[in-house]
Amino acid sequence: MNILVLNASPRRRGMTSQASECFVEGVGSASTDDFSSESVHVDVLNVNDLNFSPCKACLYCRKHGNCCQPVDDAHKVAELVRACDVLVVAAPVYWGNIPGVLKTLFDRLVYVLMGETKVGIPIPKHKGKRAYVITSCTTPFPFDVLCGQTTGVFRALKEVLGTSGFKICGKIAIPGTRRLQELPERVGKKAYNMGVRCV
Ligand SMILES: Cc1cc2nc3c(=O)[nH]c(=O)nc-3n(C[C@H](O)[C@H](O)[C@H](O)COP(=O)(O)O)c2cc1C
Repeated sequence: MNILVLNASPRRRGMTSQASECFVEGVGSASTDDFSSESVHVDVLNVNDLNFSPCKACLYCRKHGNCCQPVDDAHKVAELVRACDVLVVAAPVYWGNIPGVLKTLFDRLVYVLMGETKVGIPIPKHKGKRAYVITSCTTPFPFDVLCGQTTGVFRALKEVLGTSGFKICGKIAIPGTRRLQELPERVGKKAYNMGVRCV
């Protein structure tokens, strides 16, 4: 089983990164216990450390199924997405949405995520695969929901992941981060358990 984690927070000790680490710990504990039958491989990518150019909208990929831009990290991510069984997206709320760097990466990955019918209806390429989503924001609960903040990230990721065929099997929202130094224990446990269940 291949698990790919895309972490779009540049803050290594931020809440999004801490929660994704707990998720990966959960995966680790489940995959090393005596009952696990399958070998589990986890790749964690910090999207902010990747080097890639934005999509040029030339639409070459729609015809040829690959990207004609010079090889960069987006091509490598494309291969990892193709090979993954489970995709985890950890993304803080920026302007009520996913960070621009993650959106830019998804724009480059259209051809690995979906195809298109002749009249332009999307064809998902990842049917049967699972996805998990983690987000955080400074807006406190319940305003993160009422004002479309954490829910803005969930909506944006549902658009990308759902259209690509992934089933979103777990979501974690961490609102009100201004008052937090460390990830609350109960949120860490939730992320850990999500990792355990994912194996
Ligand atoms: C560019 C930028 C835009 C942001 N936009 C929002 C926003 O629209 N709503 C919000 O509640 N928080 C916003 N925030 C705050 C972050 O979502 C918040 O600090 C979050 O906890 C960061 O997660 P991290 O520490 O895991 O990176 C923004 C932060 C940055 C840097």
